[in-house]
Amino acid sequence: MQLSSPTPIIELKTISKHFKVGKEKIELFKDLEFQCNENEFVVFTGPSGCGKTTILQIIAGLTRVDQGTVRVFDHNINDFNEESLALFRSSTIGLVFQLGHLIETLTVLENILLPVELAQREEKDYEKRAWDLLEEFYMAHRAHSLPRMISGGEYQRVAFIRSLILDPQILLIDEPTANQDERTKAAIFQKLAQLKGKKTILVVTHSRDIFPQADRIFIPDNFRLREKNGLS
Ligand SMILES: Nc1ncnc2c1ncn2[C@@H]1O[C@H](COP(=O)(O)OP(=O)(O)OP(=O)(O)O)[C@@H](O)[C@H]1O
Ligand SMILES: [Mg+2]
Repeated sequence: MQLSSPTPIIELKTISKHFKVGKEKIELFKDLEFQCNENEFVVFTGPSGCGKTTILQIIAGLTRVDQGTVRVFDHNINDFNEESLALFRSSTIGLVFQLGHLIETLTVLENILLPVELAQREEKDYEKRAWDLLEEFYMAHRAHSLPRMISGGEYQRVAFIRSLILDPQILLIDEPTANQDERTKAAIFQKLAQLKGKKTILVVTHSRDIFPQADRIFIPDNFRLREKNGLS
């Protein structure tokens, strides 16, 4: 029997967030609350533009909120300056953006090893892991290519591998299976299944195939997160 509930690893409290488009103010979130425990697998889904990517960006500290607090590992993200936030993020959070964000002047392998450098760790300790992950996601033959030379699906895979390189405790993954063929989708599903219960995983996806993996599913709706009941 569990006597006390575990401390949440991620906690959003009374979050408000708006965007300005021209003169128009678009209210996206208001008094939004979210908590996630260590090693939970959470899916965010819902229609385009409802705020899924923004939620991940808020948790990663890449988008500042108007109001409320964002706590990750008991650190208040708002208390960090940009430099300490980048260091904290690089060692604790693996991020896969919807739109890649690889450095165009670095090769695939160098991009994958970039978080190692940012976290001020020894590159040689991670080279084997990088090659193993490249093999696992059918990308070894592209290790020395520049990002502009690879396809959209390959680009996403590099971003996925890069998020795993430091074996971070938290993974924030935006649309991992978009643009992927069946073989790669299967490799990604397998990786997520393997990490389930060992990492805190937050995935944005439209893919119902991922839903059964989720402990909880949320839809950004009406300024907050609505929990989806059932897996249909
Ligand atoms: N930097 C920005 N400036 C202005 N508006 C923004 C900005 N970022 C997001 N938005 C707006 O906020 C809303 C939510 O965007 P978000 O990217 O979180 O949606 P999403 O649910 O991830 O959509 P999709 O499924 O298409 O990726 C959208 O209406 C979007 O236009
Ligand atoms: Mg999005």
